[in-house]
Amino acid sequence: MGQLAAMVLAAGQGTRMRSRRAKVLHKVCGKPMVGHVIDSLRLAGVSRIIVVVGHQGEKVMEAIGGGVEFLWQREQLGTGHAVSMAKDIFAGHEGHLLVLAGDTPLLAPETLKELAAAGRGFAAAILTARMPDPKGYGRIIRGTDGTVLAIVEERDATPDQLAVDEVNTGTYIFRSQDLFPALAKVRPENAQGEYYLTDVIGLLVEEGKKIGSLQCQDWQEAMGINDRVQLAFAEGVLRDRIRRELMLKGVTIYHPESVFIDKDVEVGQDTIIHPFCFLEGRTVVGEECVIGPGVRIVDCELGSGVEVQNATLVESKIGDGVRIGPYAYLRPGNIIGEQVKIGDFVEVKNSRVGSGSKVPHLTYVGDAIVGEGVNIGAGVITCNYDGRQKHQTIIEDDVFVGSNANLIAPVTIKRGAYIAAGSTITKDVPPESLGIARARQDNREGWARKRKGRADE
Ligand code: UD1
Ligand code: CA
Repeated sequence: MGQLAAMVLAAGQGTRMRSRRAKVLHKVCGKPMVGHVIDSLRLAGVSRIIVVVGHQGEKVMEAIGGGVEFLWQREQLGTGHAVSMAKDIFAGHEGHLLVLAGDTPLLAPETLKELAAAGRGFAAAILTARMPDPKGYGRIIRGTDGTVLAIVEERDATPDQLAVDEVNTGTYIFRSQDLFPALAKVRPENAQGEYYLTDVIGLLVEEGKKIGSLQCQDWQEAMGINDRVQLAFAEGVLRDRIRRELMLKGVTIYHPESVFIDKDVEVGQDTIIHPFCFLEGRTVVGEECVIGPGVRIVDCELGSGVEVQNATLVESKIGDGVRIGPYAYLRPGNIIGEQVKIGDFVEVKNSRVGSGSKVPHLTYVGDAIVGEGVNIGAGVITCNYDGRQKHQTIIEDDVFVGSNANLIAPVTIKRGAYIAAGSTITKDVPPESLGIARARQDNREGWARKRKGRADE
């Protein structure tokens, strides 16, 4: 399909979503609807993709990013009007043009390839589907011999037409030279006062042109999302697909219904995912990891053999064999080496932790560089914020930080040094020495006995 061009209609507001955000920006499995449509076109090998934007066009363009062309439809006068924005581009274009809606996120690339093949030799071909509940869709009207005669929108349909369960999926392939002249004849004479792309079909039939069609095997794939109930349904269908695909590739998911994995997430072989986990964004999980229960991972890269339970990990890179949690929080910007332990009630932010280091419990590490082989005792705090600015703590290789120490940044603990438990460290500590900063203990012998004696008087 190297030479095939496609248009994606994404200019509408999506009134039925009742949202301040343009419909095509609503996410399905972590990705805006329109992004799914574009992914499928790319996977189908379409070389040129033109996206029509209008309502919140800047935001839509930003969400899509590069690799496509944008066309503005400043006023959204209907799907036919949206396609006509491209008439100058395709004037004189020989060949076919795929047209898709930005609100059909489940369409598979294979289906698009099949539609392109089905369009050969026709002025237009429509991707149709038989819906258990065709409500809201345009109906496919066929002649007694089965040929397509027209598409009738729900609001303009007669009761007989409404009984038809074969619907227009809003996905078509047109011969450009037939499409644009027919579009010029479309009039907004219908219940919505819009220029309907669907009217082109009837107009082409009137000209004696033949219309092809391809029926989608799986109606769910053809779903158009108009409201949030449909959004949730599509989300369920896609979540299921993603989990199935991963399981068939060798990932164990014990209770799939409670595991939520976004579209672009990658998970390696023999990784086990326990219940109640969320793998989001561009997360990559290596092989033989054990994730969960109760883990949320957003935009992270995990090596192999990583074990995480009851933890939240955001925008961090985690080396092989690291153990995290339970109840750990990795905020953005961490690079954690191999075989590190980040234990219970530990928060780490914008820090590097070298291989083999241990932060087993009740600790805050922020804006720090922690070397290799470091042991950080319970309750240690890097005091990185002075109320105005953030400062760095450097803990070099093989340092031992005793429990409940406060490290007042900026401060450096040199290689092999020890920090006595309970110290508040404000000065750099030289290599292989002991930093101790705490009041001396004074034992008052017999104090309790005397106190008791006083109370008995
Ligand atoms: C459309 C079809 C209907 C089909 C259904 C499939 C028409 C007239 N009807 O109806 O036959 O069954 O899709 O889901 O085409 N858009 C623009 N500019 C506009 C109007 C719409 O870019 O001026 C975009 C929207 O952003 C959306 C897509 O076109 O992504 C479809 O528009 P929508 O309003 O959802 O059409 P439906 O009523 O669902
Ligand atoms: Ca729609």
